[in-house]
Amino acid sequence: MTLPQEVRMVDVGPRDGLQNEAQTVPTEIKTALIERLADAGLPAVEAGAFVSPKWVPQMADSGEVMSRIKRRPGVSYPVLVPNMKGFEAAVAAEAEEIAIFGAASESFSKRNINASIAESMARFEPVVAAAKARDIRVRGYVSCVLGCPYEGDIVPSSVAEVAEQLFKMGCYEISLGDTIGVGTPGKAQAMIATVAERVPPSRLAVHYHDTYGQALANILASLEMGVTVVDSSVAGLGGCPYAPGAAGNVASEDVLYMLDGLGITTGVDLERLAAAGRFISDYLGRPPVSRVGLALLSKLDDQRGTGTH
Ligand code: HMG
Ligand code: MG
Repeated sequence: MTLPQEVRMVDVGPRDGLQNEAQTVPTEIKTALIERLADAGLPAVEAGAFVSPKWVPQMADSGEVMSRIKRRPGVSYPVLVPNMKGFEAAVAAEAEEIAIFGAASESFSKRNINASIAESMARFEPVVAAAKARDIRVRGYVSCVLGCPYEGDIVPSSVAEVAEQLFKMGCYEISLGDTIGVGTPGKAQAMIATVAERVPPSRLAVHYHDTYGQALANILASLEMGVTVVDSSVAGLGGCPYAPGAAGNVASEDVLYMLDGLGITTGVDLERLAAAGRFISDYLGRPPVSRVGLALLSKLDDQRGTGTH
């Protein structure tokens, strides 16, 4: 098994996680979470989304979040942008990195951004051009790479087609989203092999939701294929408002524990990351959706003599 020596972790919890919370999390809690993640060593923390507040009200304060966070040098704070209106808001918020988001499934594209795949690409073109003109980095997402909530199976060639279009448009990296967390390692490898014929694996990231508990296995399988960037969500926050039943992203704590165990460098500190997970879980009033987060929590309880066993 050949694995990379280094992996870049991208925490999408403050966006992908909090966009799906029934309660709107106050701006100061979001800000504190983002800062804690950056302080834990995350090189990238997705900070918000400049989308329609009618579609996703949870992200309506993204401008305020971006203006309040203390930005750590060397850390990226990407924000989602679906169109020029979102781009203008991102520029006003002094975003240095944006993410455009397409899908490998027509039905999901329609539900998520009210556009066919072709229409979405036409919308993204001017966004990428305007971003380039301002030296703003653009990441590209492809959703439904291992299955769609409306269409079921998605063939790898559809994923490769969209990934290549986004890459050629100028995205520096393509994040492959198993939006509903249905993939298994063999399928993930077959999908990446097909995409890698058109986008180099060094330019791919994986973004796996953990609905069926396969995400860690899928990540390991993806690392074997040459992927070195992994999206995850602190405390396993999240889901997608347009993918009913989808669970959160794989928990960052779980990914980091696995990478640490494999001797892979990330620059992220597990204790500080788990503390950030506890902070947001406490605010939301529930335990972290992270096995590692829970294990560390119970160890802490034992050390303090407050454990129940
Ligand atoms: P639309 O209704 O077709 O847009 O929505 P429109 O251009 O017809 O405009 C309608 C109204 O929205 C107008 O306002 C616009 O000004 C406003 P009105 O005149 O009615 O008052 N509007 C906006 N407002 C703020 N920001 C904007 C914006 N654009 C238009 N950027 C649109 C199209 C794309 C805007 C909408 O469908 C939308 O916001 N969708 C976002 C959905 C979303 O955020 N989904 C979750 C993120 S994707 C995800 O989670 C997957 C991912 O994690 C990867 C994975 O897991 O696979 C990334
Ligand atoms: Mg997602």
